[in-house]
Amino acid sequence: EKGGYDTFMEKEINEQPSAVADTLLGRTDAAGRLVLDELRISEDELRGVNKIIVLAAGTSAYAGTVAKYAIEHWCRIPVEVELSHEFRYRDPIIDPNTLVVSISQSGETMDTLMAVRYAREQGARTIAICNTNGSTIPRESDAVLYTHAGPEIAVASTKAFLAQITAAYLLGLYLAQLQRKLFTQQIRDILGALSEIPAKIQQVLETSDDVKELARNMKDTTSVLFLGRNIGYPVALEGALKLKELAYIHAEGFAAGELKHGPIALIDEGQPVFVVVPSPMDRHSLHAKVVSNIQEVRARGAKTVVVAEAGDEAVRDYAEQVFYVPETLPMLMPLLTTVPLQIFALELASAKGYDVDQPRNLAKSVTVE
Ligand code: M6R
Repeated sequence: EKGGYDTFMEKEINEQPSAVADTLLGRTDAAGRLVLDELRISEDELRGVNKIIVLAAGTSAYAGTVAKYAIEHWCRIPVEVELSHEFRYRDPIIDPNTLVVSISQSGETMDTLMAVRYAREQGARTIAICNTNGSTIPRESDAVLYTHAGPEIAVASTKAFLAQITAAYLLGLYLAQLQRKLFTQQIRDILGALSEIPAKIQQVLETSDDVKELARNMKDTTSVLFLGRNIGYPVALEGALKLKELAYIHAEGFAAGELKHGPIALIDEGQPVFVVVPSPMDRHSLHAKVVSNIQEVRARGAKTVVVAEAGDEAVRDYAEQVFYVPETLPMLMPLLTTVPLQIFALELASAKGYDVDQPRNLAKSVTVE
């Protein structure tokens, strides 16, 4: 049942090319236009959407944060990401033009279910991005966009995360198409780039020996920091969460720009810092800013491990180790940069002898509030 792998988590990480491919499957019609047929909200209603609230917890909330960057960029619709357990208790402002998008692998997370119910009571339209057919959250939502990652058994989410991001991109492109926020050709180009992602994930998987070796060498590490910026920020948060969950190591993710506002005080000799570097093609030139963050922490003794895009030579001089991922559109990078961080956490936890499929204190679905 583990398909030749030692653990479900390893199997699921290796299933990510098909999780993304299957989530993309059948979403365009013969004319190349997007069709999301599980959407039971009228197109008119979706044309009127002027605000999106994403509700989720844990890894699914990080998928929501990736979605925020992409959807705001493509659709020019403001997107708020709210931890579902915080949402009901802050008198959120919702009206009929607010679209609430819940993201839940299991579809049974009580915090997210209660938040969706509350949003509906307040008059919002709700769409569920979910990996589990017929589960409670999709049943209670106005529409569903299923991710097709296949059953995820390991408690730590991996393939479902990439599938959630993929589905959220599709939703963003669908809204951009309906609201005419992107040209047809732009949407085609993004879909084209998305269709190349599964093969690129495969490439990352096949070139992960160095990541594994580093993880084994770092098994006695007691703290790891992760930096990311823009759409790479939630990737840093996810890298830190995987390490906490699986290896029980103190790990924290920061937005790289926040470093100078406090966290840089944590850096001393030998402190491992992973940096998710934006594409050199990023339209805001964040690449240079993050490279200087790498220099700053390195000058204070940090051991820097960098995840960057193939061809990005600028990072080499400042990194103890660089893991390259294939080139793609800047907005799609999380589908690739996440993978080495997952493998790192898996390998480090395994080197410590921990049960990566069933980490201590955690349950696959959290069905209590
Ligand atoms: O099933 P859900 O996506 O609603 O679960 C949300 C979180 O409980 C989940 O992502 C959790 O953080 C995982 N253990 C992450 O690996």
